Amino acid sequence: MTEHAPAAQPTAAATTQPAPAGSWPRWPVGVEGLAYGGDYNPEQWPLATRVEDVELMREAGVNLVSVAIFSWAMLEPREGEYDWEWLDDVLDRLHGAGIRVALATATASPPPWLTRYHPEILPELADGTVLHQGGRQAYRVSSPVLREYALRMTRRMAERYGQHPALALWHVDNELGCHVPHDFSDDAAAAFRRWLEARYGTVDALNAAWGTAFWSQRYDSFDEVLPPRTAPTFANPTQQLDFARYSSDELLTHYRALRDVLREVTPHVPTTTNLMVSTGTKWMDYFSWSADLDVVANDHYLRAHDPEGHVELAFSADLTRGVAGGAPWILMEHSTSAVNWQPRNRAKGPGEMLRNSLAHVARGADAVMFFQWRQSVAGAEKFHSAMLPHAGTDTQVWRNTVALGEALRALAPVRGSRVHADAAIVFDYEAWWGAELDSHPTQALRYPNEVLAWYRQLWHRGITVDLVRPGADLSAYRLVVVPTLYLVSDDDAARVSAAAEAGATVLVTYCSGIADENDHVRAGGYPGAFRELLGVRTEEIWALQDGEHVVVDDGATADLWTEQTHLAGAEAVRRYASGPLTGWPAVTRREVSAGTAWYVGTRLDELGASRLVDELLGEAGVLPVVPAVPAGVEVVRRRGEAASDGSAASFLFVINHTDADVAVAAEGVDLLTGAAADTEVTVPAFGVAVVQETAPAR
Ligand code: GAL
Repeated sequence: MTEHAPAAQPTAAATTQPAPAGSWPRWPVGVEGLAYGGDYNPEQWPLATRVEDVELMREAGVNLVSVAIFSWAMLEPREGEYDWEWLDDVLDRLHGAGIRVALATATASPPPWLTRYHPEILPELADGTVLHQGGRQAYRVSSPVLREYALRMTRRMAERYGQHPALALWHVDNELGCHVPHDFSDDAAAAFRRWLEARYGTVDALNAAWGTAFWSQRYDSFDEVLPPRTAPTFANPTQQLDFARYSSDELLTHYRALRDVLREVTPHVPTTTNLMVSTGTKWMDYFSWSADLDVVANDHYLRAHDPEGHVELAFSADLTRGVAGGAPWILMEHSTSAVNWQPRNRAKGPGEMLRNSLAHVARGADAVMFFQWRQSVAGAEKFHSAMLPHAGTDTQVWRNTVALGEALRALAPVRGSRVHADAAIVFDYEAWWGAELDSHPTQALRYPNEVLAWYRQLWHRGITVDLVRPGADLSAYRLVVVPTLYLVSDDDAARVSAAAEAGATVLVTYCSGIADENDHVRAGGYPGAFRELLGVRTEEIWALQDGEHVVVDDGATADLWTEQTHLAGAEAVRRYASGPLTGWPAVTRREVSAGTAWYVGTRLDELGASRLVDELLGEAGVLPVVPAVPAGVEVVRRRGEAASDGSAASFLFVINHTDADVAVAAEGVDLLTGAAADTEVTVPAFGVAVVQETAPAR
């Protein structure tokens, strides 16, 4: 348990000079084709098992594993005393088998000695509850003490393994903010104040932004400001919003600090951390994180209660591609079968693991990885599935693991190709935070459900969608959907208007444009920032009670939220046909230069939304990836880089989520089976085909 010489001696490539900005590799070094593997936790196993692990990884075609994510206590069992030998051995064995390593900083769970001697690094809830060690992630990122220890461990890892030939990628910490997105401790209060000073400069500016004339909240100095700790009633909404912004930034600051050490010691190795992009992760503004990641990596888990979990999966994958700016990304974790942390955990059905994995690939992932390689027999995750289950290799899960490795090898030509979309949905973390604040017309609004509802409509029609942040260049899209964008800046709203002016069909939905970045209402009528574009003016919001709905004049119904909307340049496309707003416009349309701007001031039911989407797609001329996509079938195309004549390789992913065989128009060769598709490809029940198309895309 003492230090010994590094496993591999530094070579000439080693340098302490930072590499020039932007020159870091963008993909795990030395990984050929698509990457395949998972989290590997060898510290849980004796040597004989670890030897078997490597053999079985080769059998499965694994070429990349994430190591040492939760290894701090095993690597530094006592402060300043290190035990590297077991990890040296693991890395050497993996290297001997040609398996590349995404090596963690090992900082994701501080060892018990650290929190024993430094309990001041423990995070606190809004009510002052301290979150103790015994689980994981028991630290506050704002703590200078934690930062110092984490930097030291990171530097040790980089110095020890920076030149190890297996090292392909750095994995900083793990799912930053997963368990502790917000910390309300005194360290956090100090960091929050610094963040506010940097944002506002003067306390007067903070007072103006927070509207502190209300309820005697005026601050005389930044020193008086606190995180929004548990209070007698609603905390100032802008304080809540800024605390959410600060918290996301503070986690990113921690990432950056660790990453900078890695870049300094190993400029030849890319760095990432695993994000949790999905409809369930609210508090990290990943659009603002991605520029700091050399390659975007994401973890995604199906929601067992959702009968259309595969649609939420597709949404998450498209959003990850949006976060990655369209570049290929790493699916860093998903599950081979059931997880263990939902109220009722569902094992995956026939073909589901392959469908899930290849749906991520279809939407831009060039790496498919799992939590975890071998199922644990002890600890809190022993009932979480793995690539190698408790029951061993004579199991369906293991056969699936081997089959997926084969499939990914066959899909190597897909690597680096990209997804193209004519439709975009605007997605914004700050609008999410703002829309779900307390003291609003309703507490029942769930932002991701609203976005997902429109996404679902497009998914079922085989329409590929980009999920983009507000402020993105929207000029290339034919259809732009802006669901429930409660708060928006003038500049970002102008981008939406510009899209309509450039010829797009734009749909804005209720509870949009109401507030500015400070959560101040834009006076003069809702939807504030979009009033002019849409040609409407809402006088009053009429939120509905649980179970209450109103009828719309095309026979659809609406619930949750209605608006008393005046026409101011738009025409009414649908009107309310029951309830207190009978006769008032529910859906409007305005022609804007080359395009149109539609507004839906309520939450339409399935029928209403479906009819509206058909109209919008017809108007915009947006088509599915192939004509007549069968129900329950997912079709996505990835295209390679264009050659000088403009042609490019193209790959048609057809994922059959139904229990019947389906045929889809395609011409080429199915890379998974080698079978030729002359005019169509037949995809068996619950199966997948990936056709390399004969006629290259142009
Ligand atoms: C992730 C985490 C993994 C594992 C997994 C289980 O959130 O990064 O370490 O806990 O969930 O689904």
